[in-house]
Amino acid sequence: MAAEMARLTGGAMDVETIARAAAIIRAGGLVAFPTETVYGLGAHALDADAVARIFEAKGRPAGDPVIVHVADIEAVHALAASVPTSARLLMSAFWPGPLTVIVARGPAVPLRVTAGGETVAIRMPAHPVALALLRAAGVPIAAPSANRFSRPSPTTADDVAEDLGDRVDMILDGGASTHGVESTVVDCTKDEPIVLRPGAITLEALRGVFPGIVMRASAVKDTAASLASPGTLLKHYAPRAEVRLWTGPPETLTAAVQRDIEAQLAVGRRVGALLVDEDRRVVEGQPVEVVSLGSLQHLDEAAARLFAAMRTLDRAGVDVIVTRDLGRAGLGLTIWDRLFRAAEGRVLESK
Ligand code: TXA
Ligand code: MG
Repeated sequence: MAAEMARLTGGAMDVETIARAAAIIRAGGLVAFPTETVYGLGAHALDADAVARIFEAKGRPAGDPVIVHVADIEAVHALAASVPTSARLLMSAFWPGPLTVIVARGPAVPLRVTAGGETVAIRMPAHPVALALLRAAGVPIAAPSANRFSRPSPTTADDVAEDLGDRVDMILDGGASTHGVESTVVDCTKDEPIVLRPGAITLEALRGVFPGIVMRASAVKDTAASLASPGTLLKHYAPRAEVRLWTGPPETLTAAVQRDIEAQLAVGRRVGALLVDEDRRVVEGQPVEVVSLGSLQHLDEAAARLFAAMRTLDRAGVDVIVTRDLGRAGLGLTIWDRLFRAAEGRVLESK
């Protein structure tokens, strides 16, 4: 059965809609809801059977733990065995917002949530609908991104319906997500906090709190690492089309992308180009589906458009998506990480 799609308008009716969604959560059902990063697929985090339904609906392997969402910082104490200073500092600097902390699991958190592990991921989202749902439910909500496993994360309610429309009880439509990429995940269980997944909070912003913070070495793999261990990369955030990801010096990158587009067209493939405004001339006059992420000067917009762009190109039925590195500073690193995974770790280098 198709899920009820409930549009939130900011009016008085929303209270009633949120109350119904909260009742579904408390009863062990699944509600997809907007957050400022991407849409989440929510269930009662302290109800192991409800959490099991998330894995079933997504087709997600049981070994991949999910994030628990909370309405306020105090709620963390009921979920964590202990809250280290690093987590406290990060929560006060970035919550509510797109930052997930990993802390030691408290006994209330089912092992279903943590994939059997003794740590738990927690975040307080900033989206008003997510916060209203959490408050109305009165329980923490476990929620991965509301996509089918390995598909690009959803940034609109329609994206959720496309992947999970007949597998959830209700979809709350709160419009397009502002960040468009997931939260930054920081492990706070060691002496020094370490970034496990780059996300909407940049490494530079984290360094405002922890000047020495680094990424886990395997979090963003480079070309060499991907060649050293082919096939070990989890297929993730991937459109159906093959992704051809180009990197290299600015002087040669655009020309390489242009040659590749021509070569793909020459062998009869339907080509999608996932580029930036600055690249427009490389596709001029070519029979190519082009989606621009906007300007290189506005990586926040590029991030917001990234997953939607992959879905647009898939809907256009292209065989291949040619795309390129947007740099590694700020959100560039997060965008690189998602493109790298979408390309299943294959990187092409311009010379
Ligand atoms: O922005 C977001 O974080 C979104 C919205 C819905 O909040 N959620 C999200 O969830 O992206 P998901 O499940 O798609 O990604 C969660 C990430 C995964 O990479 C997972 O492996 C990691 O967090 N994670 C969860 N619990 C963990 C834990 N205990 N230790 C290490 N990594 C963990
Ligand atoms: Mg996800």
